[in-house]
Amino acid sequence: MIAVKDLSELRAHVRDACASGRTIGLVPTMGALHAGHFSLVRLARRESGFVIVSIFVNPLQFAAGEDFERYPRRADEDSEMLDREGADLVYLPDASQFYSPDFSTTIEVAGVSEGGEGAVRPGHFRGVATVVGKLFLQVAPDVAVFGRKDLQQVAVIRRMTRDLDFPVRLVIGETVREPDGLALSSRNAYLSPAERQRAALFSKALFEARDRVRAGERDPQVIERAARQALAGAGFSIDYVDVLEWETMRRATRIDSGTALAAAIRVGKTRLIDNVLLLER
Ligand code: PAF
Repeated sequence: MIAVKDLSELRAHVRDACASGRTIGLVPTMGALHAGHFSLVRLARRESGFVIVSIFVNPLQFAAGEDFERYPRRADEDSEMLDREGADLVYLPDASQFYSPDFSTTIEVAGVSEGGEGAVRPGHFRGVATVVGKLFLQVAPDVAVFGRKDLQQVAVIRRMTRDLDFPVRLVIGETVREPDGLALSSRNAYLSPAERQRAALFSKALFEARDRVRAGERDPQVIERAARQALAGAGFSIDYVDVLEWETMRRATRIDSGTALAAAIRVGKTRLIDNVLLLER
């Protein structure tokens, strides 16, 4: 596997891969890779001929007081694992080169980025859209792969890609979970053993709400109330529990096949997000 920090070097490898008739797949990450990321790499492998994984802890998507400094960084270990997983190139841009000191251009995706995570983390999706837009321009992938665990991120990137005519096909990978249901996340590493055990109750509350929908309940308020009660009962502090139309991220007035239950909670000092689609498409 090739490891590259420099943009012109990256572009030269992309040119060579295209010249040899391979399509380009991109998996953008912030590193601290886990089985969820590797499932996205495998998807990219299936969908493209040359798989690039970017590792960049993007300062623009963290607000002051969030975990930017603390975010786990282990590029060497990540690169070794990516090599074993069959990625072709790992792109490790340097923050000072990625954003020049007077960088002042950002991408704002209105509407879809405003509720849920966007309401609790103002500016977060501006940071995400800007870094993903830049990566799309730098790598020029045919296909880009993202995980459904970040449901609103997927909606924001989908809208940005459409609105700005990025010639990129988006492929969405399913959430990968621990045997007890906890969605894999780099932030799970922050949990103490006791918090980790309790964190399983997060997905359990979401699955129970989904079961209620499958049993016939169609009122979003009933589902939100039940999930909220279960999460509060497990001792979590709740940022939001919303039944949403997952393409627009608007609060749903009725539950149908385009509806998801998305939530963010805090276990001790660790913030976790998760979601479930309430009905199969
Ligand atoms: O999902 C993530 O890890 C990040 O938000 C992303 C898409 C790599 C942008 O920094």
